[in-house]
Amino acid sequence: MEKINGFNIALHDKSKRIIEIKIKNELIEKLIFPFNKFDITSLEYKPFTRFTVAKSLDDLCNNKLSKFLLSILKDRTTGCVIISPEKLTPKLDHNFFVKLSTAISHLAGKPNHDSMSGKYYARFHIEHEDTSDSYLRKAYTNMDLHTDGTYVNESTDWLLMTKIKEVNAKGGETVLLHIDDWEYLEELSKDPIGRENFIWSSPKSKNIDYKVEHPVFKKDEHGNTTISYIDQFPEPQNIEQGIFLQRLSDALEESDNKIITELPTGSSVVANNHFWLHGRKAFKENKNLSRELLRIRGKFN
Ligand SMILES: [Fe+2]
Repeated sequence: MEKINGFNIALHDKSKRIIEIKIKNELIEKLIFPFNKFDITSLEYKPFTRFTVAKSLDDLCNNKLSKFLLSILKDRTTGCVIISPEKLTPKLDHNFFVKLSTAISHLAGKPNHDSMSGKYYARFHIEHEDTSDSYLRKAYTNMDLHTDGTYVNESTDWLLMTKIKEVNAKGGETVLLHIDDWEYLEELSKDPIGRENFIWSSPKSKNIDYKVEHPVFKKDEHGNTTISYIDQFPEPQNIEQGIFLQRLSDALEESDNKIITELPTGSSVVANNHFWLHGRKAFKENKNLSRELLRIRGKFN
């Protein structure tokens, strides 16, 4: 396994496809000074500062992290990392995690505009009560396996999800599936309906006022199958498309090869969005439940 000063790098204990990167305390200490030069407003208003914080992280490890991160994210056999500070301390507050997530995402490429928040990132809470219009914040329902960016007209090559804060949470585990581990990939990706265009739209909260068309399955430049799918947003036009989506949804949820893991607070999952699906198990009911997540989606350069 690759060695980079300031990091412990190992395979995740539940999957050899996921690389676990722990940031050592000494490196975290060195990050605090360059991070303090920018507040969140400047990161939001001045896009170049986001690359500056990314470079300050990469400089601390002789620019090895960016190369390593990209090599994993683009590697079909892995394509996923979980990055977390070795130890959580009071200094590592929500602003620190916005900056760290910003730095990591800008080493992976360039974030897409997140229309839900109107920024390059989005922060949102999952709590006991919810009146929103998508599964994103529904605590007591499984969020089924899906990819991101199915309803926008730009490419979503990767996504980053950081757990900023969590209290009174039981359940709500992260669910991940690499499509090469999926028992039904061959069968469903060869179905002609899986390769025809579907219409995709999104509910009001996503602030996208157009629809897009694309198939569920495509081939990338290496001939590998990729998937772009979420249960809520395709608009099937006939019974064949409807039945295909039902089979697809059932086949994903029935897979025995899903990786179900508890993501520690302060951790970021970064995954290739073309061949990894992600989801979340339902939480156990608790009136004081609160989880705060940050997401960034983007493109490779
Ligand atoms: Fe998602």
